[in-house]
Amino acid sequence: MRLRHFTLVAALTAAFPLFATAADTPAQQPWMNRSLSADQRAELAVKAMTRQEKLRWVFGYFGTAFAPKGTTPPKGSIPFSAGFVPGNPRLGLPDLQETDAGLGVATQATPTPRERTQLPSGLATASTWDTQMAYAGGAMIGSEARASGFNVMLAGGVNLMRDPRNGRNFEYAGEDPLLAGTIVGHAVKGIESNHVISTVKHYALNDQETGRNELDVRIDKAASRMSDLLAMQLALEQSDAGSVMCSYNRVYGTYACENDYLLNEVLKKDWGFKGYVMSDWGATHSTAEAANHGLDRQSGQEFDKSPYFGGALEEAVKNGHVSEARLDDMATRIVRAMFAKGVVDNPVAQGGAIDFAKNGAVSRATAEEGAVLLKNDNHVLPLSKDVKTIAIIGGHADVGVLSGGGSSQVYPVGGNAVPGLEPKVWPGPVVYHPSSPLRAIKALAPDAKVVYDDGLDPARAARVAAQADVALVFATQWIGEANDATSLALPDNQDKLIDSVAGANARTVVVLETGGPVAMPWVAKTPAVLEAWYPGTSGGEAIARVLFGVVNPGGHLPATFPVSEEQLPRPKLDGDPKQPDQQFTVEYKEGAAVGYKWFDKQGLTPLFPFGHGLSYTTFSYAGLASQVKDGRLHVRFKVTNTGNVAGKDVPQVYVSPLSAKWEAPKRLAGWDKVALQPGESKEVDVVVEPRILGMFDEKSKTWRIAKGKYKVVLAEDAAGKNATSVTVDLPASTLDVRGRVRR
Ligand code: GLC
Repeated sequence: MRLRHFTLVAALTAAFPLFATAADTPAQQPWMNRSLSADQRAELAVKAMTRQEKLRWVFGYFGTAFAPKGTTPPKGSIPFSAGFVPGNPRLGLPDLQETDAGLGVATQATPTPRERTQLPSGLATASTWDTQMAYAGGAMIGSEARASGFNVMLAGGVNLMRDPRNGRNFEYAGEDPLLAGTIVGHAVKGIESNHVISTVKHYALNDQETGRNELDVRIDKAASRMSDLLAMQLALEQSDAGSVMCSYNRVYGTYACENDYLLNEVLKKDWGFKGYVMSDWGATHSTAEAANHGLDRQSGQEFDKSPYFGGALEEAVKNGHVSEARLDDMATRIVRAMFAKGVVDNPVAQGGAIDFAKNGAVSRATAEEGAVLLKNDNHVLPLSKDVKTIAIIGGHADVGVLSGGGSSQVYPVGGNAVPGLEPKVWPGPVVYHPSSPLRAIKALAPDAKVVYDDGLDPARAARVAAQADVALVFATQWIGEANDATSLALPDNQDKLIDSVAGANARTVVVLETGGPVAMPWVAKTPAVLEAWYPGTSGGEAIARVLFGVVNPGGHLPATFPVSEEQLPRPKLDGDPKQPDQQFTVEYKEGAAVGYKWFDKQGLTPLFPFGHGLSYTTFSYAGLASQVKDGRLHVRFKVTNTGNVAGKDVPQVYVSPLSAKWEAPKRLAGWDKVALQPGESKEVDVVVEPRILGMFDEKSKTWRIAKGKYKVVLAEDAAGKNATSVTVDLPASTLDVRGRVRR
């Protein structure tokens, strides 16, 4: 196409000079030369731009009508999409078509949404502890974005789970910066393998939804560097994401999207980020201050009080409040990402083919690997195919599986299995994917009698359960963006339902479809509990295959399940959901001691610990040894499948200083995901990310590893199940801000 285009133009140019424009021939479009680097191509392209053309890149539109202002979608945008930026035909640079989000191609609320494949929740992907699985999921949703005409995917959510009630935990990857940053980094890399730009979001410390637009996070800077910022730093290093989305909240008193420390000092200078910073939708609050403090693109300008990066920015540049050089930098960062990710050389178009069967299988594989078997007394699971009567109770398990609400909502092929639930409006609607657990269970146990009860009447459900060999209770917790769960308790009287069913049948299995950790007052009475999270497009089949042992569960928790809110750093969530615009401060006094680190520091015993997950087989560890080699701490050991079915284990390496002082007794320092046949063993060599061994010093901007003894613990969870340990001597060393040994 390209060659023919130039031949035709050359012919027309010769015959009719008026057809020629300055940049129509290769010699005049040097930025199209693919042998040049993205930096070189961006520099050439921006140099050819007028000021007006540069300004167009930094001003983003909502791709959907914005009712509060009566705006209509911009011409050329994809219907009901998240964002749009007009391209530059003169220079051969395409429009930027932007879609949410990290779980698949979303659609803004409309009666006719795009029907696409949804991955299970980010917590499910994190529960796999499998970077290849994360990559595959990202590659799949990125391919659907491309086929839908999008070249930007607003994914990469990696805010740490400082609070299990956060309404967006299901979009993220849990509480540990090493696990979350690594998993999300691979997911983003998978997305960008489709020649689309992805993001890492929401930068930074947007760790609750209540009051998200106005709350002010206070945290020791070094502590933020070793927790939320470390997760983002690792995700960016492992993905080389084209963009970062700055968040709604304030940090240290300044909005994140005009925060010089976060954007210019940490992200661009310390970390060397060469991509562009886009605001969240409605997170831009100024012109010169935001531009000079590191914001490169106002997004969804309709959501903001003013078109800050529209005419006002042109004025600011004209009168020198924003330098021409800074405008060049803004445009260059955006256009560079377009070249670097292949957006220019591989134009997208709507109507691409989507293999929904193949993509549904990718989603199912993640859901199966990400389901966490929390409890399985007396081997109630796996169910036998010869089971006679199965009671399936609650959770709309007859027709589908739950998903979370808000901008990440992907609408299912085949439509919502349970339409009309409240809230029908933002952050609703409540969507169930039409992947029926009941149907899938029937397919795996064709001779069994399967009885369904909707669970609305606990007494009636108990009577149904009493007649069955096994009772499966599906419990759901719907949460959605801009809201936090009001408590850890399951809603809608489900605790009572579970208690009643468990009282009627000793073989009761609870299947949880929740947005994050929940309390389980009934757990002593239920022999088996499976956390399926929001299991995505093929979630019903995934759950059935795990219950029947077609797949051996291998998920391990990426977050601690507390016994109750009393165990949390902030038992009562800050802010008032009824006053979303109220300004208030959230003090992260726990600093970097997030999740299991907090529980260790406080000496608390959780309901289920970080890293916990059962299997239908067992594993043993042997030969633990550790040594410093080539400046890295290596931890070696052998894993053996000591059971009689194949399975996957997640041996976890934790490190505890015996003399140095850290924020908490131990940190996750590495892991592996090991698939083994019965009796099979594998030698593992975990190389520890050195920053995990150091304390960050804000003044010198270095990671300092103290000389001394450290305990290296190999275990199956953060509580030390099956733990073995060795002690290792580490020399003192100083790493620069990016974790490189300082010469
Ligand atoms: C939302 C979210 C962000 C999303 C954006 C566009 O408010 O915070 O994650 O990508 O707006 O929908």
